[in-house]
Amino acid sequence: MKFKRVLVTGGAGFIGSNYVHYALEQHPDWEIVVLDKLTYAGNLENLEPLKPHIEFVQGDIANSEDVHKAMRGVDAVLNFAAESHVDRSLLGPLPFVKTNVEGTLVLLEEARKVGVKRFLQVSTDEVYGDLHGLEHHSLEADPFRPRSPYSASKAAAEHMVFAHGISFGLDVVLTRGSNTYGPYQYPEKIIPLFITNALGDKPLPLYGDGSAVRDYMHARDHASGIDTVLHAGKSGEAYNLGAREQIPGTEVAQRILEALGKPRSLIQFVTDRPGHDYRYSVNPSKAEQLGWERKYPFPEGLAETLEWYLENQGWWRRVRGKREHQDLMQSWYVGR
Ligand code: NAD
Ligand code: DAU
Repeated sequence: MKFKRVLVTGGAGFIGSNYVHYALEQHPDWEIVVLDKLTYAGNLENLEPLKPHIEFVQGDIANSEDVHKAMRGVDAVLNFAAESHVDRSLLGPLPFVKTNVEGTLVLLEEARKVGVKRFLQVSTDEVYGDLHGLEHHSLEADPFRPRSPYSASKAAAEHMVFAHGISFGLDVVLTRGSNTYGPYQYPEKIIPLFITNALGDKPLPLYGDGSAVRDYMHARDHASGIDTVLHAGKSGEAYNLGAREQIPGTEVAQRILEALGKPRSLIQFVTDRPGHDYRYSVNPSKAEQLGWERKYPFPEGLAETLEWYLENQGWWRRVRGKREHQDLMQSWYVGR
């Protein structure tokens, strides 16, 4: 499938901006429109080097006028825009429903009207819910068992996407990516939070006993997986994207401290996340059969990411200096 003009929602966020960087390298002839509300997580600095090559529309995916304006002449939509942080969904779930569910619906409705060739929804492995033990790797046909307001909103959005494929014949595809890290990630997620805390000699707060396992995947691998599914995925299908890693939080913390030459005593075990999912793990064979492969094993990907945060201290110090970041540190971590 070929595209000329694509809409990337949430393109000023972490994975969205990594995708825009990747897409302009792979498809230099593309016209890319970025629609982003610029919430606390959106940052135009993430797109700074690409500014001359993209059209940026500041707007809300849940606002039909903004969406109508941004989708003009577009032949593919990639929906990255979301409220993405599980802990924030525990502090206040409403924006998660507004953006992740209602926003996705507004985009789908406009995509039908415009007659886009393809709609790609960026979803998450969290829709499968908590996996016990270390044996099972979720398959696309597995049942949904979302357990946090965030994952429930992403699962609801998925149903709406599939419903538009089935009921209205819209060409939809969907990716379920695993926990992603890399450049431009907002320092609320474990890896950038721990790197930037360690650089400031602040404690690394590990939830519970730090044994929860994630399949950490580099943002560039996530971007290439999404691009593969956009071009080669079968209409109406979902594709898992993961790095085949199973890494506990304790290992994340230890690797970061070791690489930065900081003491292990910075690790602080804190009250667990309510409803903390112990493990997610996907089987990405279906996406691999389309020709996708992940390039970054965790040690290499983490080393590259550490390098980026060391070289871009201005970027994260500006973000951490803002009220939205300080409010989260205060309301979520103090007294934990
Ligand atoms: P992020 O929080 O870094 O970025 C989200 C972006 O969406 C921001 O630029 C924000 O301004 C924008 N946005 C939020 N609400 C909006 C709205 N109503 N209208 C327009 N723009 C809006 O998120 P991320 O980590 O880059 O995640 C991107 C997507 O990937 C999300 O859909 C998320 O569910 C999914 N995902 C994330 C991960 C991960 O580990 N981060 C893994 C799998 C899937
Ligand atoms: O798996 C995909 C999902 O990965 C995405 O859909 C989400 O958008 C993304 O935020 C991420 O969710 P997680 O909950 O896995 O990410 P987070 O970085 O918040 O937490 C990763 C693990 O680290 C988890 O077991 C909780 C733990 N953790 C997290 C933070 C922020 C800590 O121990 N301490 C912390 O301070």
